[in-house]
Amino acid sequence: AFEVVAKRSGVTVRVAEDQTILDALAKAGIKIPKSCEQGVCGTCLCDVIEGEPDHKDKFLSDEEREDNDQIVVCCSRAKSARLVLDV
Ligand code: FES
Repeated sequence: AFEVVAKRSGVTVRVAEDQTILDALAKAGIKIPKSCEQGVCGTCLCDVIEGEPDHKDKFLSDEEREDNDQIVVCCSRAKSARLVLDV
C-alpha cells in the first residue's frame, strides 16, 4: 500500500493493494473524470507534484513516463511510499 496526497483537496488517502488510486480518491469524495478505467483513454490523467509513479497505463509515451510528472490514476501505482497529486 502507499499514500496519495490530494494537494488541492487537502486530503490524504491510503491505496490498498486491491484498490486503484482512482477508487481510493473517489471513496474520499474526490471524483476524477474517468472513462475506460483500463489505462487507455487518458481521461483520468493527473499531475504529479511529488513522488515516483509506477506507470501501468498504455496512454503515456516513454518520454512522458520518464518525466514522472503525470499519472494515469485508474491503473498506475506508486514506487515511492507517497505520491502528491495536483487534485
Ligand atoms: Fe481511461 Fe484512466 S479512465 S486511462
